[in-house]
Formats: sequence, C-alpha cells, structure tokens
Amino acid sequence: MQIFAAVVFLHLSLCATGEAVSGPTETTVTAAPGDIVLLPCYTVGNVTPSLTTWRKNGEEVIISSTGDHRLSVEPEGSMAITGVQRGDEGRYECSSFLPGNSSFQAAVLLQVTVGPDNISTSVGGPVTTLPNGTLFTTRGSSVSFICSVSSYPAPNLSWSFRNELLVSTFRSSLVFNIENIQPRNQGFYNCRAHNIVSHLTGNRSTELLVYYVPERHPECTWTLAQDPSIIHFSCSWFGAYPPPKLRWEGAADFQEADSLSVAWNRSLLSDGQTMKCSARHQLLGPGEEKGCSFILSLPYPEGDPLVAALEGTNLTLICNEAKSLPPAQKTWSKGTEQGKIQSGSKYIVSEEGSALKLTIVNVSKDDEGIYFCLSENILGVRELEVYLTVKTAASAYTGGIIGVFIAALIVGSTVILAKFLYSSRHRICLGGICEQTDEDRGDVLSLVESDDEQIFQDSVPYLPPLTNGGHTTLVQIHRIPSSDHEDVENAETNLEQLEDTEESEDLVIF
Ligand SMILES: *[C@@H]1O[C@H](CO)[C@@H](O)[C@H](O)[C@H]1NC(C)=O
Ligand SMILES: *[C@@H]1O[C@H](CO)[C@@H](O)[C@H](O)[C@H]1NC(C)=O
Ligand SMILES: *[C@@H]1O[C@H](CO)[C@@H](O)[C@H](O)[C@H]1NC(C)=O
Ligand SMILES: *[C@@H]1O[C@H](CO)[C@@H](O)[C@H](O)[C@H]1NC(C)=O
Ligand SMILES: *[C@@H]1O[C@H](CO)[C@@H](O)[C@H](O)[C@H]1NC(C)=O
Ligand SMILES: *[C@@H]1O[C@H](CO)[C@@H](O)[C@H](O)[C@H]1NC(C)=O
Ligand SMILES: *[C@@H]1O[C@H](CO)[C@@H](O)[C@H](O)[C@H]1NC(C)=O
Ligand SMILES: *[C@@H]1O[C@H](CO)[C@@H](O)[C@H](O)[C@H]1NC(C)=O
Repeated sequence: MQIFAAVVFLHLSLCATGEAVSGPTETTVTAAPGDIVLLPCYTVGNVTPSLTTWRKNGEEVIISSTGDHRLSVEPEGSMAITGVQRGDEGRYECSSFLPGNSSFQAAVLLQVTVGPDNISTSVGGPVTTLPNGTLFTTRGSSVSFICSVSSYPAPNLSWSFRNELLVSTFRSSLVFNIENIQPRNQGFYNCRAHNIVSHLTGNRSTELLVYYVPERHPECTWTLAQDPSIIHFSCSWFGAYPPPKLRWEGAADFQEADSLSVAWNRSLLSDGQTMKCSARHQLLGPGEEKGCSFILSLPYPEGDPLVAALEGTNLTLICNEAKSLPPAQKTWSKGTEQGKIQSGSKYIVSEEGSALKLTIVNVSKDDEGIYFCLSENILGVRELEVYLTVKTAASAYTGGIIGVFIAALIVGSTVILAKFLYSSRHRICLGGICEQTDEDRGDVLSLVESDDEQIFQDSVPYLPPLTNGGHTTLVQIHRIPSSDHEDVENAETNLEQLEDTEESEDLVIF
C-alpha cells in the first residue's frame, strides 16, 4: 500500500564522505518495505555521467527488461527502487564514467526495517480478567507470558519484571513461563522490542495479580469493652489477597477487611444465640462462604454445695465454670453482704484452668457459713452456693472416742495375752526347744507405725487413720517402761500428731 505513497521516504546520512572526485563515498539509506528509494551515486558535480553501473554485495545488478522491473538508473546515475522489499538491504556500489575519461565510485548501504510495531502481550494459563482489564491468577498456578511484535529484522525481544531482565531473544515472539506462581511474582511484566537496525524501541506492559486465600477458616473472638453493657465480637481472616469481605450476621453488610470488629449491646444478646461471621472472596466462587460461629451461653458454675472441714486445717473450695461463652469472670464472696474475697494471708484465690479456687487458711469456727462463687459474662450472672461446716478438734475427738475404746480393748487384751505368754514362757516351748533369755526384764507387745517409727505404747488410743500414710503393721517386742499407766492426755497428744501429718485440702468429714 505504501507503494502508492506520493512521498518518498528517504533517509540520507553521509558517513566519511570524501568530497574529492573519484573519492569513495558511502551513504546509508534506510527504507521500509514499499518505499520508493533513490540510491545516489555521483553527487559532487553537475556533469552527466556517460555510463553508470551498479553492483549489490559485489554482484552486478542487471537493469534491463529481463531484470527486476522495480529498479531503474536515473540519467545522473542514481538507482531508484520503487517498492522496497525485505531482502533489498545490502551494500550497493556504483561506477560512473564521466566525460574526460575519468570515473567515479560510490557506495550506498541500504537498510530495510520494520517496526517494532504492534507489540502485543498476553498471559496464558488459568487467568481471569477483572472488569478494569487487569488479569489475576491464583497462587500456585502456572502461567506463561507471551509477547509478539512486528519488526524487521527480528528485534531484540525481552521480558522484564521490576527492571530485571527475565529472558531475551532475537525473534518476533517470546514466551516466558512461571510455574507455581507466588505473591512476590505479582506486578507489571514488560515486553520490550528493540530494532537493532533502526534503533527504534517499543514496549508494552501487562499487570498480573496473584490472588490467594488461606486454608483455615476465619476466627471468631470477643473482647470486653469498658462499658460493661457492650461486647466486641471480632472476626478475622488474615492471609487472603485481596482482603476478604466479612460480615457479622445481624450486623451491617459485608465489608472488605482482614478483620471486622462489631460492638454489641447486651440487650441484643441472649442465651443460646448463635453469633456467626461469614467471609467472601473472589477465589471462593460466587455464593460460597467461609465462616466461624459460636453459641452464647450463660455461666453455669459448678461445685460441691456442702463442705465440711476440720478446725485448724486449710480448705480449698472449687468453683468450676467451663460452659459460659464468652468465658465468665468468676469471684468468690462470703455471705450476702461481704464483697469479693481478695487473696491475702487468710484467703488464697487462684485460677486453674476453668476453675476458680478459694483456699481458706487455718479454718476456724468463724469461717463457717455460706460462700458464693459469682460467675458473670455479658449475658448475666449465675452463682454457686457453698455451705461450709467447721468441726472443732473436740467434736472430732468425741467421734474418735468410740474408736479409742475399741482400740484400747484390742490392745489391752493383747497385752494380757502377751503377759500371760511371757510369764509362762518356761512352760510353753515350741518343738521342745526352750530358749532362756538371760535378761530378767519384762517385755511387752506394742503396735508400731511402720513408716515413721512412732511408737504407740500399750493402750494408746488413736483415730482411724486420716491419712493414707502408714498403718499399724509391725508387732515388735519392747521393754516394759517403768510406768505402765497411760492416760487421756497422752491420747490427745497423739491425736494432734496425727492431724499434723494430715493432708490439708478438701477434707469432707464423715
Ligand atoms: C580513455 O582511457 C582509456 C584507458 O584508460 C583509453 O583506452 C582510451 O583511449 C581513452 N580515451 C580517450 C578519449 O582519451
Ligand atoms: C498492526 O496492527 C494493525 C491492526 O491490527 C494492522 O492493520 C497493521 O498492519 C499492523 N502493522 C504491522 C506492521 O503488522
Ligand atoms: C484493576 O483492579 C484491581 C483490583 O480491583 C487493581 O489492583 C488494579 O490496579 C486495577 N487496574 C487498573 C489498571 O486500574
Ligand atoms: C536485548 O535487550 C535486553 C534488554 O532490553 C538487553 O539487556 C540485552 O543486552 C539485549 N541483547 C543484546 C544481544 O543486545
Ligand atoms: C516503554 O515505552 C514508553 C513510551 O511508550 C516509555 O515511556 C517507557 O520508558 C518505556 N519503558 C521501558 C521499560 O522501556
Ligand atoms: C444498650 O441498650 C440499652 C437498652 O436498649 C440502652 O439503654 C443503652 O444505652 C445501650 N448502651 C449503649 C452503650 O449503647
Ligand atoms: C490458727 O488459728 C488459731 C485461732 O483460730 C490460732 O490460734 C493458731 O495459731 C492459728 N494457726 C496458725 C498456724 O496460724
Ligand atoms: C496452710 O496454708 C498456709 C498458707 O499457704 C501454709 O503456710 C500452711 O503450711 C498450710 N498448712 C497445711 C497444714 O497445709
């Protein structure tokens, strides 16, 4: 079509021109296909050469009816090419014979170039076009970037990303592949074409976004506000790109955010209500959602309603609360008037898992009464009532006195039996062998605590074992002490000793 162009594209540049007649001159002419060009020969004078011949790359160009009809030699010696074609490029040399038997030589370098024009880029693979024309793909996909260009000769074609060369070639199309694409690969990809003949450059960019969503579900949490009638429910789903759209059911519409916190007035919340957060994302598909939820639950503190303890011991009351949602704040209080019990020397309040423990140190009769474990969350307050009974050592002793009696009976009869055996040791010999001890002192059987060597002599009374410690298992023979009589005072001493070794907590008296 450019053949019909009236204007002849002619680019002349004189290189190392020798102005002298007969001196070799070299000219560069650049043309696009279809152009009409004039290759100059004798330009330094105004005489008309008698004859001009042209050679291309060393071979004579035949200009005749049988040759290339696009070519013609003008009277002054220039060669015209009407409709340049690819392949016409080369080094042309002319020889002109001038009047006066002199000749003239010149050279012309013809370049034929196209473009770079119409650079086009595309992305192959699982890509989606956004309404604004930008492309996105999913993390982990394999994509290919394709660039093609109209250029003659084949241009230096390259793909680059963030000003870094990815690949280049001397061809008119180029493909660059990325496997397992990652967020860091998101951005603008630039295809550049450089025509090394014309030194013209063209480029074109394409933006590729890399979308992703996390495997896990959104997370629902809560935080208490300063205002006790308000609670904030938050829903977060981090690690999605672009940010997801989140919504708390019953609150406002979907909002684009990684995390969405909504304040609720407690008057809008009730026991058993389900709080639900939904998340939407381009990668989940239309109508598809991920979410999290929880069911609101009133507190429900649990524990022993009736507890008894022995005076002087430590006692721990346990208030277990695992059901409430959001988790309840728990406090211990005594009676109806007195406020929250604080940790100190008398009381130790400690939290262990879902339980709130109250340890009363050195329980006394004054500690008897009602204790409340108050458990409160945004939905309301629930309490656990615990009634504590304190038994004095004296009342425990009256209980033990019967045991003492029985023990005394058993031990007493054993002593009698032992004394009888001892006194008749000369008569009762086993197997006819009678060993005579030379010491002439009386021995007696007594019961011994196996582990701590505490000796209960004769008729020492004791309580049924309160500990899981040693039981009376050994029977040993000891010398009879000078005073054979033991009294109630002694019994009380031993009772105290027993209590001292006793475990401190959770004593529910029989
Ligand atoms: C021109 O020069 C050639 C040789 O270079 C010679 O043969 C010829 O006769 C000359 N002609 C004239 C008119 O001088
Ligand atoms: C460039 O593209 C346009 C339209 O697609 C076409 O008309 C033209 O011929 C192309 N140019 C080249 C040099 O291929
Ligand atoms: C097209 O939209 C995407 C996301 O909405 C944005 O990241 C990108 O910059 C937009 N591109 C253009 C060219 O506006
Ligand atoms: C091709 O172009 C790229 C960048 O555009 C450049 O880095 C590279 O050196 C060029 N190659 C040649 C052989 O000129
Ligand atoms: C791409 O071409 C534009 C002009 O079309 C130019 O401003 C820009 O610098 C070029 N970019 C590169 C990387 O060559
Ligand atoms: C919560 O709701 C109650 C009753 O609907 C209202 O009186 C109170 O002002 C609200 N609190 C806040 C902080 O909006
Ligand atoms: C326990 O309390 C009683 C009075 O109730 C007191 O006499 C005793 O010393 C206290 N024991 C300890 C170990 O504090
Ligand atoms: C009771 O608790 C107090 C304070 O923790 C401690 O010092 C004491 O040893 C405990 N008494 C017993 C018998 O465990």
